[in-house]
Amino acid sequence: MAQNHFQPDIYPEYVRLKVPEYDELEETVAEAASTPAAARILDLGAGTGETARRVLKRHPGASIVLVDSSAEMLAAARETLAEDRVESVLVQKLEDPLPPGPFDLVVSALAVHHLESADKQVLFERIARVLKPGGRFVLADVIVPQDTELASTPVASEFDRPDRLDDQLAWISEAGLEPSVLWTNGDLAVIAACRPEMEPA
Ligand SMILES: C[S@@+](CC[C@H](N)C(=O)[O-])C[C@H]1O[C@@H](n2cnc3c(N)ncnc32)[C@H](O)[C@@H]1O
Repeated sequence: MAQNHFQPDIYPEYVRLKVPEYDELEETVAEAASTPAAARILDLGAGTGETARRVLKRHPGASIVLVDSSAEMLAAARETLAEDRVESVLVQKLEDPLPPGPFDLVVSALAVHHLESADKQVLFERIARVLKPGGRFVLADVIVPQDTELASTPVASEFDRPDRLDDQLAWISEAGLEPSVLWTNGDLAVIAACRPEMEPA
């Protein structure tokens, strides 16, 4: 998805045009993030706050930290979310160190595919470190499907760097999380990954 469409006034319509399953994907993320009960949530690549809004609805007592490289997208997110539910809004890249944990939940929709493979691996390690034991990471993103004919989401080589699902599952496991695939549709997938309560000895 082209970077110049990350403008809050056109984004909601644009994303639904290019990703017809957008609302189903967002609902799948929110449902997957409905447990564990959360007090503190991190949304990576939060955009206009669509994921945050749906996830916060399921955690009435929680507050959220929003991260995105676009100040304009985050300003729009702030407008749609109740002030007392937003702990902080950070204009920074997903390649940068994450805000300090612990978080009960980390969510990210349609953003991690902008990173190079090596940066995705580093990000997954950082997410594992900021998650509480028993916490959950929910990732929804564009992937490279096994059958490349199933790829229908427009990707631009200079901004979009989707990877295969099996590679990402391996990187998430290597980071110390336990991933499972909850939903796929062509070149879209939703993964939930838990940080074990007890770390392996
Ligand atoms: C397709 S939008 C997804 C927004 C939101 N998560 C949603 O589901 O509607 C991708 C978002 O990722 C942000 N983004 C792209 N590359 C990024 C990077 N390297 N670091 C941080 N944010 C990035 C963009 O600014 C944009 O808001």
